[in-house]
Amino acid sequence: MKQFNSDKHTEILSEDGSYTAYSNEYAEHYHSTKDGALKESLSKHVIPAFSIVEKEEVHILDICYGLGFNTLATLLYYKQNKPQVKLYIYSPELDDTLVRSLENFTYPQEFDIFKAVILSLSRDGVYEDEHIYIEVFLGDAREYIRRFENKFDIVYQDAFSPSSNPILWTKEYFYDIKNAMREDGVLTTYSIALKTRIALHENGFKVYLNEGKDFRGATLASFKSLENFALVEVEHKMRCNPDTISLRDEEI
Ligand SMILES: C[S@@+](CC[C@H](N)C(=O)[O-])C[C@H]1O[C@@H](n2cnc3c(N)ncnc32)[C@H](O)[C@@H]1O
Repeated sequence: MKQFNSDKHTEILSEDGSYTAYSNEYAEHYHSTKDGALKESLSKHVIPAFSIVEKEEVHILDICYGLGFNTLATLLYYKQNKPQVKLYIYSPELDDTLVRSLENFTYPQEFDIFKAVILSLSRDGVYEDEHIYIEVFLGDAREYIRRFENKFDIVYQDAFSPSSNPILWTKEYFYDIKNAMREDGVLTTYSIALKTRIALHENGFKVYLNEGKDFRGATLASFKSLENFALVEVEHKMRCNPDTISLRDEEI
């Protein structure tokens, strides 16, 4: 019988009742087990992003595909709230064996309606219908993002943590992300680390707090001012923490 669990990753039940996984390679869970996999994806990425971006066509960069929660939670949100919109999702993922094993992952019931999408992405890396285009690129996100310029309305920055996967959190990385984004685009991330916020600030992003009563705080970043979110005074925090600097490619 085919199964998801392997020597690299194991399914783990998270607190909202949805399963996430633990990565032996990165010694980290794919989601916050406290917030819950589905809830984290909706609260820290999908809902805040779509509270800001209102367009007929939305282009999303989902860094990185992992178990696919951010992509699938986006489809769920869209089906329930904006079924007329056209969605384009682009998602790099280094671990091809993970992607191929996802047809055997225990997804929450809410994703049952996306079985065809899950299968298609797991087997072929692409799904397309009249409203949706999704591609999972099997390879390095750093290389992939340099292919795009002025394209993305939304970036879900959901790599493993800056300490375990620093190459996806550096000042130079966010420079490439900025080039791939549109002027009115928004970036979401669970990371509230000051070094992440400094790297965003150094690339011209305004940094905002994304908070809610039932999940731990997260970060939003945008080039334009966001009305409904509290601005993080990054320069003030830098003055108070002079030893904290952004991660740099050359140090990794
Ligand atoms: C925290 S998980 C992503 C969780 C995912 N967003 C979800 O909702 O399930 C981080 C993922 O980044 C992948 N990864 C690590 N380094 C990468 C790289 N350089 N390029 C692409 N993917 C990478 C890992 O294999 C892992 O699947």
